[in-house]
Amino acid sequence: EAIEKGGYEHFMLKEINEQPKSIADCMRGRLDAKNGRLVLGGLRDYMNKFQNADRIIITACGTSWHAGLVAEYLFEEFARIPVEVEYASEFRYRNPVISEKDFVIAISQSGETADTLAAIELAKSKGATIFGVCNVVGSSIARATHAGCYTHAGPEIGVASTKAFTAQISVLTMMALMLGYQRGTLTESKYVQLLNELEGIPAKVERALTMNDNVEKIAAIYKDSRNFLYLGRGYNFPVALEGALKLKEISYIHAEGYPAAEMKHGPIALIDEEMPVVFIATKDTSYEKVVSNIQEVKARKGKIIAVVTEGDTVVRGMADHVLEVPDTAEAFVPLLSVIPLQQLSYHIAVMRGCNVDQPRNLAKSVTVE
Ligand code: AGP
Repeated sequence: EAIEKGGYEHFMLKEINEQPKSIADCMRGRLDAKNGRLVLGGLRDYMNKFQNADRIIITACGTSWHAGLVAEYLFEEFARIPVEVEYASEFRYRNPVISEKDFVIAISQSGETADTLAAIELAKSKGATIFGVCNVVGSSIARATHAGCYTHAGPEIGVASTKAFTAQISVLTMMALMLGYQRGTLTESKYVQLLNELEGIPAKVERALTMNDNVEKIAAIYKDSRNFLYLGRGYNFPVALEGALKLKEISYIHAEGYPAAEMKHGPIALIDEEMPVVFIATKDTSYEKVVSNIQEVKARKGKIIAVVTEGDTVVRGMADHVLEVPDTAEAFVPLLSVIPLQQLSYHIAVMRGCNVDQPRNLAKSVTVE
């Protein structure tokens, strides 16, 4: 086992640090920015259906569902097709309206999640095309879908998903770019510019990982907190959900993720000097709005930990702690902004003496309802 951990104390830490490589592996042979090429073999025979779909339905559970939420923003921004993101466990029992014109994407690291598998069977019985985004080759979901793309993140052992999440987002990003280009909703020049930016993401993830020592110091300060709030907007809203899930899973601290603007509709009542609030406040279209949300928390003496874009001075002047990630296209930010949140949950859990790789009550794949 020590050999498998490759010198790391836990699989989770190894997997967090593997992300520059796992994302590059996921894009290898698919993305060639220099020649303006992006090819997903699994999509080839289904591109027509995908391109002409009335609607994209994404179904998944847990972290994979969070990747699906990021994809909702991606598909709608680049390809202008309406998207619905469904918890597989709800979808399968809701008698949902599905037709042959729907393109269903099922996301699963393990490819064995019972609820996701059942959602696939249901959608299939209604004539929809089902596309799988799985990590485990030959898994049940990979076999049950009409076509798919593997994430190629390599085996993920830690129960808390990390590198599978960023690989899922990488595949979904490539799908959205291909779709947008084919449908003409993305111009050639924008497409090529985004392909180049995407190719540079592994190096930026490497840079984001260097925040680790700062994250560890912050973890030491807040490890005994009883609650955490994670707030983000736009592409960073699913990241807030994912950050909160990671903390809950492995450190057993209660954490909630919210869209930052929803704070005033309830969660703001929770804020006092005991409450750490993690803001994902990167420079994007909602930056100014997030800055005013930070001010609201500060006015109520909440403790602010902010993930910001490198060189940010405004939030730095307001927050108790900042963690920087490199600048990138707004749509690619989740691949970077989630990194310090993974590290934060990891360090807090270690400091609390929790079993990081095998948290209580959780299994790596949930093969029962
Ligand atoms: C993630 O950290 C969780 N352990 C869990 O939410 C997981 O993402 C979920 O059970 C879905 O699993 P899957 O991707 O293998 O289908």
